[in-house]
Amino acid sequence: MIAEAPAAGDAAIRARGLAKRFGGLLAVDHVDLTVPRASVYGFLGPNGSGKSTTIRMLCGLLTPSEGEIEVLGLRIPDQADALRLRIGYMTQKFSLFEDLTVRENLEFLAAVYGLSRRETRQRVDELVELYRFADRQKQLAGTMSGGQKQRLALAGAVIHRPELLFLDEPTSAVDPESRRDFWEKLFELADGGTTLLVSTHYMDEAERCHRIAILDRGALVADGAPGELAAALDGRSVEVLAPQPRRAQQALVGQPGVLSVAQIGNSLRVLTAPGARGADALAGALRQAGLQAQVRPVAPNLEDVFVAATRRDERAEAA
Ligand SMILES: Nc1ncnc2c1ncn2[C@@H]1O[C@H](COP(=O)(O)OP(=O)(O)OP(=O)(O)O)[C@@H](O)[C@H]1O
Ligand SMILES: [Mg+2]
Repeated sequence: MIAEAPAAGDAAIRARGLAKRFGGLLAVDHVDLTVPRASVYGFLGPNGSGKSTTIRMLCGLLTPSEGEIEVLGLRIPDQADALRLRIGYMTQKFSLFEDLTVRENLEFLAAVYGLSRRETRQRVDELVELYRFADRQKQLAGTMSGGQKQRLALAGAVIHRPELLFLDEPTSAVDPESRRDFWEKLFELADGGTTLLVSTHYMDEAERCHRIAILDRGALVADGAPGELAAALDGRSVEVLAPQPRRAQQALVGQPGVLSVAQIGNSLRVLTAPGARGADALAGALRQAGLQAQVRPVAPNLEDVFVAATRRDERAEAA
């Protein structure tokens, strides 16, 4: 049995000590995850941090090297067959048939999931309407825009009304407006009771999730509601306004207690280490370098959370 389970029934996914080795590489490093039902759970992390590998294990597509997984009350991978009809899985790569029409693609998927002819007609009509393909039913999927393709892929992924939907970077090739539109659909699904686990590299998307987890080199390094994670960094984000931002950046990089210095337009955003002296110390360092600057603490955002969680301490590593 899985230890420290939350109140029965409120978790769609529980994983404990989940690990995956590829030869000598520990791609997923003993991850504990709890994903509440009917929520949007974001999965963040640098390239190669183990997001897709974790998702594949949770779906039952890949056998873990170690650990326990329970998804919708089923033990995975042992009961993966029973899970298959209750989940949907969508990736960044367009996985539908380019040379079938919008409607034919949905009908094909309905057949895969064993819907009867009557159910198929009803469900495809409903999805065509809901996902705004009414005037494109006969268009070949391959001729649609990136945003339309992802919307169609989402319609396809929910054809069998899955309770749980895994989305692995579903919007990576999609413009901002189409991404917003796509996320509206995700929230409608969550409102209807579907649980969604979504990996993304976009901070604006992560910001919208009910909870997020951040992976770094396979390990879970942060986990919580976006607002809580940002609030925990209070006092560590500093904005620097300087006439010569590049020079100010050079003066600040490598200062003790400075984790990162990013130029954003004409200002700098500095993230300091826990317990560092903050704005005053930075102002001092800039004065010493002979630079004029305004330095003020700002509210931490999710990008700061991401940097704080995944920043490698280069000095510690060199040692
Ligand atoms: N089948 C495999 N065989 C060997 N190594 C693999 C395999 N699948 C993944 N890996 C390795 O495991 C690590 C984690 O990969 P994974 O695809 O899970 O990362 P990710 O977080 O999804 O990255 P990205 O953001 O780029 O999609 C990488 O170093 C990758 O090369
Ligand atoms: Mg991936």
